[in-house]
Amino acid sequence: MQIKETKEAWDRYLKAKSRYEDIIGKITDLKDDMGWGRYYSRSGIPVSMPFLPSTKSKVRTMMELLGDIEGLGAADLGAGDGEVVLALAENKSRAVGFELEPELAGLAEKRLNDRDLKANIVKEDFFKADLSHFQVITVYGITSMMGDLEKKLISELPLGAKVVCNTFDFPNWRISKKKNSVYLYIKE
Ligand SMILES: C[S@@+](CC[C@H](N)C(=O)[O-])C[C@H]1O[C@@H](n2cnc3c(N)ncnc32)[C@H](O)[C@@H]1O
Repeated sequence: MQIKETKEAWDRYLKAKSRYEDIIGKITDLKDDMGWGRYYSRSGIPVSMPFLPSTKSKVRTMMELLGDIEGLGAADLGAGDGEVVLALAENKSRAVGFELEPELAGLAEKRLNDRDLKANIVKEDFFKADLSHFQVITVYGITSMMGDLEKKLISELPLGAKVVCNTFDFPNWRISKKKNSVYLYIKE
């Protein structure tokens, strides 16, 4: 079933979120489970995956798997309210967050300012962006887009680049490390 009406999609997302909150780490494919054909942001912008913030425990694991990222170009693909971008900036990377939904992008910027952290929030589709200058990528995606993202990252990222995925892994890329349902990949 395709949900075309934006408010309906958003309300349905909020219901799903509260229902799944306790078991969020166990979700394998929210799209199939909810019968969603397409995702929309709150303003009605078509997006690759809906907004669902990473938990603090997952963010800690993502940073642990990445190790020292000081001075590296790091991008969170789909920044949401900035939870992961905050951590990338706190870990002294040159952090960028791509976020299509203006309300969330504004919230991420505000949270960064409140903490005096430096990072850029870019209101662009990360699938259309040139990611070749990032050595670190973080993403909390969804199964339906991980195959396309895998191809893009493998073709664009520099050698040695590190990618961490929260919960949803890539279909083909060999996992370098796994912890707490977070996956680390290294471009070889
Ligand atoms: C699952 S949330 C993850 C938020 C954040 N990265 C975190 O882990 O807490 C995904 C976010 O990506 C945004 N998004 C989805 N597709 C996008 C795209 N193609 N380009 C930029 N942002 C996108 C959505 O609006 C949503 O806020």
